[in-house]
Amino acid sequence: MGGYLQPLNPPGLKPSSKKPGCFLSKPTCAFLTCGFFSLALLHLLFCSPAGTQRAAISPLLNYINSTYSFVSSVPGEGSRNCNYAVGTWVWAPGHARRYNATECNAKESHDCLRNGRPDTGYLDWRWQPSGCPLPAFDADAFLSAVRGKHVAFIGDSMARNQAQSLICLLSAAFPYRLLYRDPVPRQFNNWRYAFPSHDVTVSFYWNPFLVRATGKAEDDTVRDNHVHLDEPGDRWGADADTIDVAVLAAAHWLLNGAIYYNASGMIGAHAHPEIKDTGVGYAWPLRMVYRTAVQRLSSPWRPRTLVLATFSPSHFEGKPINDPTACTKTEPYKEGENEMEWMYREVRDIVYDEAAAARARSGAGDAAGASKTRIEVLDVSKLASKRPDGHPSIYMTRRDPAAANGEPEKVYYSDCLHFCLPGPVDTFNEILLQILRKGR
Ligand SMILES: *[C@@H]1O[C@H](CO)[C@@H](O)[C@H](O)[C@H]1NC(C)=O
Ligand SMILES: *[C@@H]1O[C@H](CO)[C@@H](O)[C@H](O)[C@H]1NC(C)=O
Ligand SMILES: *[C@@H]1O[C@H](CO)[C@@H](O)[C@H](O)[C@H]1NC(C)=O
Repeated sequence: MGGYLQPLNPPGLKPSSKKPGCFLSKPTCAFLTCGFFSLALLHLLFCSPAGTQRAAISPLLNYINSTYSFVSSVPGEGSRNCNYAVGTWVWAPGHARRYNATECNAKESHDCLRNGRPDTGYLDWRWQPSGCPLPAFDADAFLSAVRGKHVAFIGDSMARNQAQSLICLLSAAFPYRLLYRDPVPRQFNNWRYAFPSHDVTVSFYWNPFLVRATGKAEDDTVRDNHVHLDEPGDRWGADADTIDVAVLAAAHWLLNGAIYYNASGMIGAHAHPEIKDTGVGYAWPLRMVYRTAVQRLSSPWRPRTLVLATFSPSHFEGKPINDPTACTKTEPYKEGENEMEWMYREVRDIVYDEAAAARARSGAGDAAGASKTRIEVLDVSKLASKRPDGHPSIYMTRRDPAAANGEPEKVYYSDCLHFCLPGPVDTFNEILLQILRKGR
């Protein structure tokens, strides 16, 4: 299937359901377990090791306050205190019909129109942030904001989804050239395009853990991920000094589990079928990978913008990947309907927290010693969580017309994680544009 695409509880990776190693009192733990965890799809949290729960709970308590005080400080075009992270999807016929994904050579499995998705209502919505407008994507404004620069997306398949959306949005208006792409069919990992009109290059680096990872991250047929928390990914690490704007997105692979290392050796494993729970959880490694990446990309001399994208949740809604009805909704969730799951909010909050910590680190010392690195959060969690209708679902491949003639249907997998191109992920780039314009 190429790349990562799994519900959060892949068969065989369920954590042990034996006694939870709770750090809270048993009644509190039982309350949390029943009250929160049974509501949602928190299979990974369910009776997970102490480290996971500690890591899971404390940031929420500590940072919910700071999150909301600085989330609202992202000014928009002509409007102060615009918070793009919070808002509603409003009906806007045709708003998202902005390009033909076949023409910009998007990954076939995201080209829903080509693959025969019959309903197109998912293209008729626009994100309305609370209290300010979000301008529609403007390719000239984007390329002007990054004139002469190298924009790099680093991360998992959601980073790739957004990077491809950007290529499609830009190439619909300006000439472009593919500079290179790894020659693996249908994978679309590690590529770079040039937009000569504005001397801009846009790259994607496949690094689902941000840091160096071997095993499954390199070869989907391998079971385990071996993740080196203190080493940047090889390829982007080598190019880091050429990058002016970096968009970082990772979390899904950390939730699914890995074996973690530092320079001294193995530290522990999360959600591993054989290695006994080591309490490393997913929250702490997630902090570490962002920290290592931000550190490698921080510079005291080169002005650079680091954009940390938050978690974009999937909508399998508890169904397995081979269930063709896993995500068949045709409209966004309404306000109050299907609120974002607790674990997803926590993963989002870790990104805010690491951004704040990185700002604090780089701001330390006098002006001369201060880093020239600007750190921003691209919070897509809420807007993405409201779009169960925007995924390829079974239209990952061209539907087989033979099936209509009474021949047996082949098994269709459902993609309820990535977004169709065009689709809701284009909004990520609308917000990215506002972040970049603000910094000029
Ligand atoms: C929340 O933040 C405000 C202002 O930043 C602070 O005064 C207040 O004590 C914080 N509340 C908690 C519960 O941390
Ligand atoms: C997109 O472009 C391809 C190739 O040019 C064309 O065959 C297809 O009909 C177009 N799709 C839509 C939805 O316009
Ligand atoms: C690696 O991790 C172990 C366990 O957390 C720690 O004791 C050790 O100091 C770390 N080593 C390095 C080089 O960071």
